[in-house]
Amino acid sequence: MKLAIDRILQSQGFGTRKGCRELVTDGDVSINGEVIDDWRTVVETDGLVITLFGEEDWPYRAQVYAALNKPPNYECSRKPSHHPGILTLLPEPLRWRDVQPVGRLDHDTTGLILLSDDGAFIHAQSHPRHHQPKTYLATLAEPATQALADELQSGVQLHDEPAPIAALSARLVDPLHLEIMLDQGKYHQVKRMLAAAGNHCAALTRVAIGGLTLSSLNLAEGEWCYLTEAQIVALNSEPDTGA
Ligand code: URA
Repeated sequence: MKLAIDRILQSQGFGTRKGCRELVTDGDVSINGEVIDDWRTVVETDGLVITLFGEEDWPYRAQVYAALNKPPNYECSRKPSHHPGILTLLPEPLRWRDVQPVGRLDHDTTGLILLSDDGAFIHAQSHPRHHQPKTYLATLAEPATQALADELQSGVQLHDEPAPIAALSARLVDPLHLEIMLDQGKYHQVKRMLAAAGNHCAALTRVAIGGLTLSSLNLAEGEWCYLTEAQIVALNSEPDTGA
């Protein structure tokens, strides 16, 4: 697609239209090593890499699909109240272009969370009807046996739920660690299911969404990355149940 450079810059989160025009007229924007100083310049967006201030390279992206390894003590809400929001871990242009978390993790839960500015993607990944499987590693407060995993797979009764809720899979990794896969995202679901089964969740990490694992992304806590096409495909592929 061909667009004027001021519109392109705005779409990529570099500020208001006025601010983007100023960046151009100030000589801060170059493409292929050439400074563009007229904001009316029309540019092809396919394969475009924008250089800002002679140093930062920004490949053009029609939409952003990203993943973050959420650290503890960050909130996923867009208006966080007690802790910093996870969006503060992203570069400013991504916040400007309205990238948002896909679903929520509790402030003390760590691990894989997706971020995007594509409304259809956010809806497909987070709507309960789509049953996107999500896998968590829970650290248990009390040592458990396989009986705990079996109970979670058979279903446990949560307060305010009409019927017992079952995990898609549950596997005791060792007496203090349980891997559990759910296809719903009810409020505090893992913690409430563990409590209903007589244990307590001491710590929780989301380790996979669909077939995309946190370990495959090699992100330290607090780090994020853009998702490749293959990684987006993995989101919708069968998760590994360990069976
Ligand atoms: N279940 C929980 O209890 N907390 C989360 O953050 C995610 C799933």
